[in-house]
Amino acid sequence: MAKINTIHECSKCGAQFSKWQGRCNECGSWGTVSQEATNLEPKKDTVNISAEKPINFTEINLQEKTRIKIGIDEVDRVLGGGLVAGSLILLGGDPGIGKSTLALQIAQGIGNTLYISGEESASQIKMRADRLKSNLTGLKFIPQTNIEKIIATILDQKPDLAIIDSIQTIHSSDSSTGIGSAAQITACTTQLMETAKASGIPIIIIGHVTKEGFVAGPKTLEHLVDTVLYLENDSRDFYKILRGVKNRFGSTGEIGVFEMTEVGLKEITNPTNIFIEDHNSPASGTAISIVMEGSRAFLTEIQALASKTSFGYPQRKSTGFDLNRLQMIIAVISKMAKVNLSNHDIYLNVTGGLKIKETATDLAVCLAIVSAYLEKAIYPNMLILGEVGLSGEIRNVSQVDRRIKEASKLNFNRIITAKNQHIKNIPNVEIIQVSNIAEAIRIISGHQ
Ligand code: TYD
Ligand code: MG
Repeated sequence: MAKINTIHECSKCGAQFSKWQGRCNECGSWGTVSQEATNLEPKKDTVNISAEKPINFTEINLQEKTRIKIGIDEVDRVLGGGLVAGSLILLGGDPGIGKSTLALQIAQGIGNTLYISGEESASQIKMRADRLKSNLTGLKFIPQTNIEKIIATILDQKPDLAIIDSIQTIHSSDSSTGIGSAAQITACTTQLMETAKASGIPIIIIGHVTKEGFVAGPKTLEHLVDTVLYLENDSRDFYKILRGVKNRFGSTGEIGVFEMTEVGLKEITNPTNIFIEDHNSPASGTAISIVMEGSRAFLTEIQALASKTSFGYPQRKSTGFDLNRLQMIIAVISKMAKVNLSNHDIYLNVTGGLKIKETATDLAVCLAIVSAYLEKAIYPNMLILGEVGLSGEIRNVSQVDRRIKEASKLNFNRIITAKNQHIKNIPNVEIIQVSNIAEAIRIISGHQ
């Protein structure tokens, strides 16, 4: 069998092929495949390699000072309580979303920070800092794109934090591929990871999300770093949401909410109702519930539309809610509450661009559909919480006190929930407890 001792690699996506080809099969780019490395045979002289001494966990002393608080609560919480010493963090997002602004605010929070930019000059950063009314005393800046120089500077300056803006502009003299290619980005990130681990200095790298929705180099970066944060717009473009999608040192359920103002990103500390507009004037087909994102509760509005099927099978479409679960709920409504939806198309929408991943909003989905079908609005100021089971029973939801605590700040005076759910008494709030969907439907259809 012939030995492969040459590989050809695409400089854009990093795919490898045994033969040269004009077009990369993986990313479809032309003229990017070139001969990359030779001689893949394993080295034979393994006899002289000395064995590693394993580490015994009982000998490791964890130091308490490993987390550094930034002082911006929304960021600290998403990180799991602050920056971990020696961690490598990727801050991704669309161009123009506010990554550099957030990075500068983090730098200001930390103080002794080295800001490395391959995109902007010192005066541009200064202009931004002036806009943020930042105190620049601890901030050091280098405009640099060469990774070896960047690392040498980080090790020389020993800042409390290094920020690299952006990874797409950095190159390594070891790699011959183009700036911004997957191979370059991987090589540079790997070197930064080693630097962070060896020096204990946390490093934030900023990465642009490309048109295809990747932080360039099909998600390769996400595997290399400790923590991945994305900054994105909410669906109405009012707020910026900082979301943790990977975190080796904390949970990924938390989100941070900001508003972009003339003086930088402002924290929204009480964002319970950012995803809905007005819950006081209900229309038929809308139901209000509360979802948890990490430790935060958010009010959410579920909208349903039921329209007569004009041809063929009835349609079921959903945005922000799992379609299989929607179909299950529709089946339960038809079978257990005897509401015949078999010749109605059902469309479901979760407003504000939230994606619901939990079952606590099942009952709200169910009542929104029935309300749309009956063309009857649900009471104003009514909060609906409960999971729906296959036999139509309403089940308890988790963290109910937290959810209700948030909701009670917002003028809700009726809560409909599961029979067995234990709820503390809240003044001026009527708690209606139901055991199955038929009962819940009777309540919403009975009111005038
Ligand atoms: P920027 O942080 O440069 O985005 P990124 O690094 O993600 O590309 O800033 C994005 C936008 O924010 C830019 O259009 C200007 C605006 N902006 C403000 O509205 N207020 C401010 O205080 C700052 C610094 C920027
Ligand atoms: Mg920027």
